[in-house]
Amino acid sequence: MYLRSIFVLASSWLLATVDAGCKNYGTGDSNCPADLPCCSLDGKCGSGAFYCLAGSCDAANSFSTSSCYSAPSCQTGKDTFGNILALSPKSKYIGDPNLAAWVSEPTSQAEIRDGYLNLILNSTGGESKVSSTRWIKYGAVTARVRSASSGKGVVSQFVIKDQNGNEIDFNWVGTNPRHVQANYNYKKQLTSIPAVNSPDLGDTTQAFHDYTISWDQDSITWAVDGMSFRTLNRLDTESIGDNDYKFPSTESQIVFRVWDGGSSSDPQTQKWAGSPTNFADGASYTMSVYSVTITCDPSNGSSNYTLPPDVAAYEKAHNITSDNFSLTADPDNARREGNSGGSSNVSIIPGDSSASRLASFSTIPSLFALSVAIAASHLY
Ligand SMILES: *[C@@H]1O[C@H](CO)[C@@H](O)[C@H](O)[C@H]1NC(C)=O
Ligand SMILES: *[C@@H]1O[C@H](CO)[C@@H](O)[C@H](O)[C@H]1NC(C)=O
Ligand SMILES: *[C@@H]1O[C@H](CO)[C@@H](O)[C@H](O)[C@H]1NC(C)=O
Ligand SMILES: *[C@@H]1O[C@H](CO)[C@@H](O)[C@H](O)[C@H]1NC(C)=O
Ligand SMILES: *[C@@H]1O[C@H](CO)[C@@H](O)[C@H](O)[C@H]1NC(C)=O
Ligand SMILES: *[C@@H]1O[C@H](CO)[C@@H](O)[C@H](O)[C@H]1NC(C)=O
Repeated sequence: MYLRSIFVLASSWLLATVDAGCKNYGTGDSNCPADLPCCSLDGKCGSGAFYCLAGSCDAANSFSTSSCYSAPSCQTGKDTFGNILALSPKSKYIGDPNLAAWVSEPTSQAEIRDGYLNLILNSTGGESKVSSTRWIKYGAVTARVRSASSGKGVVSQFVIKDQNGNEIDFNWVGTNPRHVQANYNYKKQLTSIPAVNSPDLGDTTQAFHDYTISWDQDSITWAVDGMSFRTLNRLDTESIGDNDYKFPSTESQIVFRVWDGGSSSDPQTQKWAGSPTNFADGASYTMSVYSVTITCDPSNGSSNYTLPPDVAAYEKAHNITSDNFSLTADPDNARREGNSGGSSNVSIIPGDSSASRLASFSTIPSLFALSVAIAASHLY
C-alpha cells in the first residue's frame, strides 16, 4: 500500500517535459536546458526518471554528459518473487532501485503472481519486457525459467544488455523449443561468430531449467542446470581491422522479454523466429521466471550508489523511505506449490520448498551470486 501511494504521487513529477528536439534546443546551438536536462532515447528533453534513467537517457544530447542518472550498482542476492511490489511499471518508477528491483513495459503484460514473474505475449507485434533496476558488470546471473516459445514466432529471452546494443543472450524460439540458443551482440551487431544451440533440454516450455551466464573480463560462459555448453573467450573476438575486441564489457541490465518475432519487419528475424505467430482464439504465451540469482563482481560496479539529487529531494519532500522494502515482504504472494501463475504444470524443484524459498532472499556479502529462475508456460 505504502509503495503504491508513492507511485501515484510520483506520476505528476515524472511528466515534466518539452516537446522539442534535444539537439538544437532553444537557440539552436545547445542540448537540453538545465531545468529539463535529460534527453530521452526518442529525442525529447525532460526531467525525472522517464527521461534521466540510465538506459533510457542519451547522455551525448543531454544538458551535460552527467545529466543522466548513473546506473545503480549491482547487488548480490536472490529474488524468488515473494513481493509483488518488487516489479514496478516502468512509467511509475521514480529512479530508486531500493523501491523496486524490476520494471515492466508495457505494464499490462507482466506480473508477479504466486511467487513467479510472468511475462505474457498475446497480440500480433506485441511484447513484454522486464528489466532490472540495478546494473551488473561481470559476475554471474542464473535464472530459473520456463520459456514461452511453444509456437512459431514466439521469442523468449533472458539477456544481459546495455542501451548501446552490447548483449549476452539466452534465446528460445518457437520453431525449436527443445534447445536454447547462446548468443551475443557487440554494439548492435551480430558478430561473425554464430549462436550455439544447447543440447536437447526436452520441451523448454514444459519444465523449468536453471540458465546461467557467467561473465568476466576474459570470457563468457553459458550453462543450463550447471552444465556449460558454450564459452566465448575475449581473445577470440579480436577484430584486427577495428583494433578492437568485439566482446561485451559494459555495465548492463538483466532483461527478460517475450516478443512476436513472427511479425518482425526484418525477413531474417522472421525466418529465425518462425512465422506466422498464432494468436487465434485468444492464444497467449507466458514466460515464467521462478527465481533470479545474481552474483556481482565486487570490483566492478558494486561500489556505493547514491541516489540522483532530484530523486533524493523528491523522496525527502514526500517522506519516502525504502527502509521497509524487502523482496520477500508480501505474505499474500506466497508461492503455492503446483500453481504456476499460468495454466500448465510447474515442476517443483527438489529440495526447494516454497517456504524455504520465500525466506531465501539474502544479500550475499561477497563474491558472485545472482541466480534467476524463470518459468514460462503456454496458455490457451
Ligand atoms: C493480453 O494480456 C493482458 C494481460 O493479461 C490483457 O490485459 C490484455 O487484455 C490481453 N490482450 C488481448 C488482446 O487478449
Ligand atoms: C573490474 O574487474 C577487472 C578484472 O576482474 C579489474 O581489472 C578492474 O580493475 C575492475 N574494476 C573496474 C572498475 O573495472
Ligand atoms: C558504503 O557506504 C557506507 C556508509 O557510508 C560505508 O559504511 C561502506 O563502507 C561503504 N561501502 C563501500 C563498499 O564503499
Ligand atoms: C513528512 O513528515 C513530517 C514529519 O513527520 C511531516 O511534518 C510532514 O507533513 C510530512 N510530509 C508529507 C508530504 O507527508
Ligand atoms: C518500517 O518499519 C518500522 C519498524 O518495523 C516501523 O516502525 C515503520 O512504521 C515502518 N515504516 C513504514 C513506512 O511502513
Ligand atoms: C500435471 O502433472 C500431474 C503429475 O505429473 C499430471 O497428473 C497432470 O495431468 C498434469 N496436469 C497438466 C494440466 O498437465
